[in-house]
Amino acid sequence: VKHFNSNQSLAGQHWVITAGPTREAIDPVRYISNHSSGKMGFSIASAAQSFGATVTLIAGPVNLSTPSNCNRIDVQSAEDMHQAAIDQAASADVFIACAAVADYKVAQVSEHKIKKTSTNDAMSIALVKNPDIVASVAALAKKPFTVGFAAETQDVEQYAKGKLVRKNLDMIAANDVAKQGQGFNSDDNALKVYWHSGNKDLPLTDKKQLAEQLVVLINDRMQND
Ligand code: CTP
Ligand code: CA
Repeated sequence: VKHFNSNQSLAGQHWVITAGPTREAIDPVRYISNHSSGKMGFSIASAAQSFGATVTLIAGPVNLSTPSNCNRIDVQSAEDMHQAAIDQAASADVFIACAAVADYKVAQVSEHKIKKTSTNDAMSIALVKNPDIVASVAALAKKPFTVGFAAETQDVEQYAKGKLVRKNLDMIAANDVAKQGQGFNSDDNALKVYWHSGNKDLPLTDKKQLAEQLVVLINDRMQND
């Protein structure tokens, strides 16, 4: 990994990073979630902090310890993560959306535990769309340099570039989750990073190395935009 020289230090910058899954309540004892470990987001927080940034980590429910000297805000639902992100984005220079946000939440959370019935062998739960956190941040009048992630199982480049444009992002880091040993829950990852005027491949390595490479790339792009 290339090391920062003095004009590349992130001192004085506020980096805000979302990480991990969200949890969408069904009733007091059940929820909808996903397998995101939060490792990539926590590694990015750690890397940005080590390069001198002030870092706020907005974390869904994960089993990870807080990287040293990072401010951590714990949230559960996408709505909570959205609120924390909007609050923090006001003072952010960089916003990185690593979280695997649940696309939908339960339309009506049951106040009491839902009972199974003897008459119905099937049941369904109505869902409604969650707010798009990274798109909301990118729509702010004072927009930080906004970076999204895209986990795809097919047509990685096409879907990633579509999200870059649709969400008004400055950069998107895509990973092919269909490939073994990378992405969700893994210790290693590879990223294909796209911005409006270029792209860069960050080949398979551990998430710590990859996070440092991504932080360097984000800083390079910010200085060249
Ligand atoms: N994202 C977000 N808020 C959401 C959904 C996604 O901030 N409600 C962010 C993710 O953190 C990620 C980027 O948007 O940085 C892309 O997420 P992804 O799930 O790949 O995209 P979606 O737009 O949700 O599309 P789909 O899941 O259908 O591929
Ligand atoms: Ca999604």
